[in-house]
Amino acid sequence: MEIRADAGWRERALAVMPVGSSTNSKAPALLPEEPEVIVRGLGARVWDDRGREFIDYRCALGPITLGHADPRVDAAIRDQLRDGILFGHPHPLETTTAELFCSLVPGAEAARFLKTGGEALAAVIRIARAHTGRDRVVQIGYNGWLNSLAAGARVLPGATSASVPGVPAGLAALHHAVGWGDDEALDALFRAHGSEIALILVAADYPSVPSSAGFYRRLRERADAHGALLAYDEMVTGFRVALGGMSEASGVVPDLAVFGKGVANGMPLAVYCGRRDVLGVLDRGEVVVTSTYGGETLSLAAATTTMTIMRDERIPERLHERGAQLQNGLNDAFADAGAPFRLEGHPTCPQFVGEQEPIDGFLRAAFSHGLSLYRVVYVNAAHTAEDVAETIRRARSALAEVGR
Ligand SMILES: Cc1ncc(COP(=O)(O)O)c(C=O)c1O
Repeated sequence: MEIRADAGWRERALAVMPVGSSTNSKAPALLPEEPEVIVRGLGARVWDDRGREFIDYRCALGPITLGHADPRVDAAIRDQLRDGILFGHPHPLETTTAELFCSLVPGAEAARFLKTGGEALAAVIRIARAHTGRDRVVQIGYNGWLNSLAAGARVLPGATSASVPGVPAGLAALHHAVGWGDDEALDALFRAHGSEIALILVAADYPSVPSSAGFYRRLRERADAHGALLAYDEMVTGFRVALGGMSEASGVVPDLAVFGKGVANGMPLAVYCGRRDVLGVLDRGEVVVTSTYGGETLSLAAATTTMTIMRDERIPERLHERGAQLQNGLNDAFADAGAPFRLEGHPTCPQFVGEQEPIDGFLRAAFSHGLSLYRVVYVNAAHTAEDVAETIRRARSALAEVGR
């Protein structure tokens, strides 16, 4: 592919990289208003290659919970870096980070580390199959690319796929995608295959988070009645909706869970955790899950510092308060402008709900006014009340521009 001498980053990226980004949801779709690349972040703000500054509500699509370049987390990474990154034996941080994590998360009797949500979810599925001796898996919600195995599953947070090219039909037939809150579909599945279902794996539907406790209770009851396990995908909800994610927020504790984005303020770390007896398939060597980089110390140092700050400074409550200011202020602005969309869900991760074209039009205008938004809106602890007030003022200007 021929690249023009004056090609921008998007064009260059597409020439050398499928999708033009290693993360589908980060590839800019609303150019030229949207930044092609981000080169720097500090606290609640990011800058693109053209020097444009944005108040950032993408927060790396969730992981940045304390703020970009948080000095305490960065110091922990630098301190560890002086002693080395990765060794041929476990580092003490692997144990102490697991101890801290398990002290914070309900139901986490033991925990172990990987790098991404996708692989940790694959581990949980394998562990559940081995523990129960069953093959079928029910998937509710988005579980990252590795687990969009069932026809009809979420392939991205906002999209489903009727077929799953690249997944052998025999494997796809064992994965059942069920929509959020669809009790009828679940009942039908359990009637047909109750004794073969190893696991119900559920990722919260963001707009439904505030009213989700009843559904989680019914999932727990169904799993228990049929001898299946229940696992939560807490990649987004963990350390954001509450320290202990949906299990703390709903009061319904799963058998297994996967955390990631909120744990290490942007460093790559995923945690799979849960009942010690279920994870016993690993201790006994019946299931092998192992990765060279699981115990990588820079991420563990970042995680220990992040989790300690989150606990000691009650960060989820701060995110809740700031997120509510933002969600309410933006929804008032949308209503005043007669916009056919609003933000629904938990204040720490509300989602745009409404007509897609007007939403995109607003997002474009928002980028032009120095606001970086995504379909799920993430606050971090560095957003001040004044940042949010400024955001609402800019959003009103953007809406007025779209209206014209
Ligand atoms: C709910 C949920 N589960 C799983 C994943 C996959 O995690 P990763 O991208 O680290 O593989 C994501 C990523 O966006 C997610 O939002």
